[in-house]
Amino acid sequence: MRAAWYERGGPAGEVLTVGEMDAPRPGPGEVLVRLRASGINPGEIKKRADWMGFGIGYPRVIPHSDGAGTIEEVGEGVSSSRVGQRVWVWGAQSGRPFGTAAQYTALPQAQAVPLPGGVGFEVGATLGIPARTAHRCVFADGSVSGKVVLVSGGAGTVGGFAVSFAKWGGARVIATVGSEEQVEVALEAGADHALNYRTDDVAARVGEITDGSGAEASWRSPSGETWPWTRRRSRRSGRSPPTPPTPTRSRGCHSGSCSSRTL
Ligand SMILES: NC(=O)c1ccc[n+]([C@@H]2O[C@H](COP(=O)([O-])OP(=O)(O)OC[C@H]3O[C@@H](n4cnc5c(N)ncnc54)[C@H](OP(=O)(O)O)[C@@H]3O)[C@@H](O)[C@H]2O)c1
Repeated sequence: MRAAWYERGGPAGEVLTVGEMDAPRPGPGEVLVRLRASGINPGEIKKRADWMGFGIGYPRVIPHSDGAGTIEEVGEGVSSSRVGQRVWVWGAQSGRPFGTAAQYTALPQAQAVPLPGGVGFEVGATLGIPARTAHRCVFADGSVSGKVVLVSGGAGTVGGFAVSFAKWGGARVIATVGSEEQVEVALEAGADHALNYRTDDVAARVGEITDGSGAEASWRSPSGETWPWTRRRSRRSGRSPPTPPTPTRSRGCHSGSCSSRTL
């Protein structure tokens, strides 16, 4: 099969090779997926660059954990009815060497999830890390139905999914974004209100939108802007300032930079 791989950590131009190698075979409980799209996550770049200095973990790594395609073969113990199924895959290169930057990947059948007919492979390849992160952040504390959820960075990759999930879950969603173009993106994702953090007084606007009660749950953007103004909002409403979350409160998110809690 055609694949991209690296055998040592470093800059892409120095360590990535594109070539031919044997396709994997599905082991017991596994499926072989013919990939149609591969999802590149910031984490893949960090792993390939060996940012922690621990080495790359395997003699050869095919990068990318996320992807989408069609099941072509099943291993022992997997129903043959899955052959031909459109799927999105997650975790292909998480604790395993061979990811989705290839024509084929073999992985446990639970990591190949049916993809509805109307959803393109390129969308399926974005679901693994970003959408699962957003889903966890929005629902880690339980239902958001009837709540006001603030998504900081609501036009970003994870933030956009968080907006859609929170709206789908029955919340009233306020997104903060960095430009007028991003206002449209956040509204299209399902936000009820999109505030430009560069030009709006976000604390004041959230106060107006919520009649002074503030947002009940919040998802933090890369910059950490949410917490300062959330505390400000609470002070104005006379409640105790909440304690900023620590990574241990992120409840299964992929990084400490995302969090979900009731304020
Ligand atoms: N991507 C993933 O799969 C993943 C997984 C786990 C965790 N994370 C974490 O989740 C965070 C977001 O990642 P991402 O991949 O979604 O990034 P992204 O696509 O770059 O989105 C970040 C968004 O936040 C906006 N932003 C920046 N500063 C802001 C502020 N002060 N207020 C409101 N919005 C602001 C940016 O807009 P402008 O800069 O244009 O204003 C951008 O639209 C990062 O901390 C990342 O480490 C990501």
